[in-house]
Amino acid sequence: MVDGYLLATMATEFWTAIFERAAPVEVEIGPGTGTFLCREAAQRPAVNFFAIEASRSRAVRVSALVEQQGLRNVRIVHAPAQCVVRLIPDASVSAYHIYFPDPWWKRRHHKRRLFTPDFARDLARTLAAGGLVYLATDVLSVWRLAKECLESSGVTLSALPTRPRPSPTAFEKKGLQRGATIWQGTFVRPPVATRKVPSPTVGWHTAAGDRP
Ligand SMILES: C[S@@+](CC[C@H](N)C(=O)[O-])C[C@H]1O[C@@H](n2cnc3c(N)ncnc32)[C@H](O)[C@@H]1O
Repeated sequence: MVDGYLLATMATEFWTAIFERAAPVEVEIGPGTGTFLCREAAQRPAVNFFAIEASRSRAVRVSALVEQQGLRNVRIVHAPAQCVVRLIPDASVSAYHIYFPDPWWKRRHHKRRLFTPDFARDLARTLAAGGLVYLATDVLSVWRLAKECLESSGVTLSALPTRPRPSPTAFEKKGLQRGATIWQGTFVRPPVATRKVPSPTVGWHTAAGDRP
């Protein structure tokens, strides 16, 4: 049996190995030009920002921007988010930021859409109790799909006011210019008792002094 205390330690080690420090982690999926990512990271240096970008050229450009601005609290990975989120330890992310995910309009491309029940389950699993998903899109069908997948995974639309972005993202600007409606909301993983990390049990196998 895997000890919950050990799992919590592994989660801390996973992020500490990536950021070389322990701090709350927020994940942006599809940062695009990196406008939101860089502004947030500069404004909140105490938070670790992890961005997952499927486009290689965009990931490279955002990395260059991060380096130029000397942002030490940002890491970028070039890969499809669905694969990366699967590797993130349980209950270890404070917030996900998902702004204007690609709609994949054509029916035959729907399978490439970001939100699926499996993906939403991974977001739910990796969110800390009380953790948040910030979502915005200008496509109603994407909003409906994301909301349905998240709510089926127990991550519910919250009554919290939507956190204003420091400035509109590149895609948001385009949407606003053509008068599009922006569908946005904050979803929350409820802080339920079952998500509490159990305290060490009798089965703990290292010396007591090793416990963090
Ligand atoms: C429409 S753009 C929005 C960019 C930015 N969030 C904004 O609001 O300006 C969607 C972004 O998500 C990225 N993307 C699409 N599918 C992805 C996936 N499965 N995993 C990670 N990034 C993805 C795209 O490469 C692109 O940068």
